[in-house]
Amino acid sequence: MEKIAVYPGSFDPITNGHVDIIERGLNIFDSIIVAVLENPKKRPLFSTEERVIMIQDLFKDNDNVRITSFRGLLINFMKHNKADIVIRGLRAISDFEYEFQMALMNRKLNPEIETFFMMPNLKYTFISSNLVKEVSSLGGCLEGLVPKEVEKQMLEKHKFSGKNKSQDKE
Ligand code: PNS
Repeated sequence: MEKIAVYPGSFDPITNGHVDIIERGLNIFDSIIVAVLENPKKRPLFSTEERVIMIQDLFKDNDNVRITSFRGLLINFMKHNKADIVIRGLRAISDFEYEFQMALMNRKLNPEIETFFMMPNLKYTFISSNLVKEVSSLGGCLEGLVPKEVEKQMLEKHKFSGKNKSQDKE
């Protein structure tokens, strides 16, 4: 039977750490569905559609990676896609508490769901989408943190929002 795993997240934006987890996951699972959360309560830098398209571009040559968005409960999305494995990346102990809670909540909601934790390459363990956004908005270099295409799109975003440090006084 085909082993399908779902890798859910905000991916605002996708980082090299996320990409590393997807590539590692492909060594274990037959296919991975990257599920981008559409969260009406948050104001993301990139729209859901922009995030989905960015990730689709990165994996356009890999038929085993499908990218889509979802709303509401993850377990419902999983059921709809006939998947029972959730992949989550763990960077540090500080991630663990929240991830542990989420994994057990998903198991409570559907006992058939298993969460599979994966560690990215050590060189990516300090990267988070939030820090990447902060660095980018202040004009910092994103090399090695996010894929090249994402870096370009972040520069564009900050150019249009006028948030780039190079335009600031200090
Ligand atoms: O990248 P993130 O923001 O850490 O991802 C969090 C995500 C999307 C995996 C989580 O918020 C989620 O699954 N949201 C969907 C709502 C849900 O199912 N909540 C109950 C599970 S705790």
